[in-house]
Amino acid sequence: MKTLIVYDSVFGNTKNVALAMEESLKENGEAAAVHVGKFHLGLLEGVGVLVVGSPTRGFKPTKEIAGFLDKIPAGRLGGMKVMAFDTRSDVKKIDNKILNFMVKRFGYAAEPIGDKLVKKGGKLAKSPEGFIVSDTEGPMVDGEIERAKNWIKL
Ligand SMILES: Cc1cc2nc3c(=O)[nH]c(=O)nc-3n(C[C@H](O)[C@H](O)[C@H](O)COP(=O)(O)O)c2cc1C
Repeated sequence: MKTLIVYDSVFGNTKNVALAMEESLKENGEAAAVHVGKFHLGLLEGVGVLVVGSPTRGFKPTKEIAGFLDKIPAGRLGGMKVMAFDTRSDVKKIDNKILNFMVKRFGYAAEPIGDKLVKKGGKLAKSPEGFIVSDTEGPMVDGEIERAKNWIKL
């Protein structure tokens, strides 16, 4: 079953996670990771699992990922498995009361991505997941790339 991973990335961390997932899946099957800017609907042909990943920016996915999700026609993901992930800062480490409150209230990018994929007809294959970057620009915290490589396997 072919997996398509569509990602956005500002500093390169989400890209690295997406590429690691692609590599992990290629051990046993067919997978491709594409930047959201290169996505077109034709890429969904023959796809069994659609995975979408974004950096969390202001508690949400990037505008590019939000726009891409909006443009998927209603019902187009019917019969497809879907998965959603984000990259995010370690909010516990930042330990700021206002930020903690905001995060509790508004969350991260992965959950709304998952919701949107389901609205378009997809079936969530796993709970949305977040992977932690050091500071803002990364790199990924130790062990997170390995965790992503395992998470992507169904
Ligand atoms: C403008 C801005 C807003 C951000 N907002 C959040 C946020 O709401 N929650 C969070 O956990 N991290 C936030 N971050 C940290 C990003 O999630 C982090 O930079 C991103 O995961 C790095 O991925 P990338 O290298 O693919 O861009 C923010 C970073 C920037 C620069």
